[in-house]
Amino acid sequence: MLLASKSAVVTGAGQGIGRATARALAAYGAKVIVNDIQADNAARVAAEIVEAGGIASPSADDISTWGGAERLIGQCVDAYESVDILVNNAGILRDRMSFNMSEQEWDAVIGVCLKGTFLCTRFAAAEMRRRKSGGRIINIVSRSGLRGNIGQANYAAAKAGVLGFTRTVCQELSKYGITVNAVSPRAETDMTESIPDAVKRAKDANWADSSVRKRGTPDEVAPIVVYLALEASDWINGQVIGLGGDKLSLWSHPTEVAEAFVIGGWSVEQLQNLFGTSVGYQLQSVGNKD
Ligand SMILES: NC(=O)c1ccc[n+]([C@@H]2O[C@H](COP(=O)([O-])OP(=O)(O)OC[C@H]3O[C@@H](n4cnc5c(N)ncnc54)[C@H](O)[C@@H]3O)[C@@H](O)[C@H]2O)c1
Repeated sequence: MLLASKSAVVTGAGQGIGRATARALAAYGAKVIVNDIQADNAARVAAEIVEAGGIASPSADDISTWGGAERLIGQCVDAYESVDILVNNAGILRDRMSFNMSEQEWDAVIGVCLKGTFLCTRFAAAEMRRRKSGGRIINIVSRSGLRGNIGQANYAAAKAGVLGFTRTVCQELSKYGITVNAVSPRAETDMTESIPDAVKRAKDANWADSSVRKRGTPDEVAPIVVYLALEASDWINGQVIGLGGDKLSLWSHPTEVAEAFVIGGWSVEQLQNLFGTSVGYQLQSVGNKD
């Protein structure tokens, strides 16, 4: 089996994409710590894996805390002697227009999606580096973080933060044989249940009539995580890969699309005169369409 000697931690694996990912990693031979703050769900998924002939143990640690993340990675090392694969999947939504958003709604989403990704990566990377046997870190991001999405300022900021984190940490860790990539999934889960039908219809409008499915099941997202976790995927680093239903995609990194120079620097007056005819003719679109 392709992942037979590997140990994996999947956060938020009690349901949805995390559950599918944990089960798929185990099916390819990895020993998996199934983490979810909903303890019953973590225990159920670990039991499902064991019942199917795999190796797994549950963890109910809160990955948004320093202690929780440290315990989680420690549990994997204690149980399976290493942590070779980390999937930072746990996520929450607290959707609200930015001008109505509370401090708690902001902090909760940043805490789980961004800080939790940092914390688990921090402890896992230290262990991977110590063992000198490489590793795979896969961060689950979102189109909201890539393109922006109305009502999700907290979530979009957190996921955009994870993208910047991915692009940085992949460079820090490559010399240790550790790759860090991001996956932007699209699947029907409890999380997407919370999106009002009208909003979902509007979002999906430009491909709703096609036979191609761009939103699938969690089981259809799991293969890209397994693929990135393979030893043979060592050539893929710092990438942002989309998978939903039938569609696999590769996202670009932000890049300057236009540039203009004034020797001695730009004044307000020069910007008034020249912005529109220099960089301003290539203003970029925003929004989470397709
Ligand atoms: N479903 C989609 O189409 C979609 C699209 C873009 C991004 N995502 C991302 O994919 C990931 C999985 O989402 P999903 O759709 O399966 O959602 P989900 O709500 O079904 O699963 C998320 C899981 O994370 C767990 N969790 C939350 N806070 C936690 C914490 N502090 N510690 C440990 N576990 C915690 C939850 O209990 C839950 O089981 C998330 O990061 C989400 O942002 C999903």
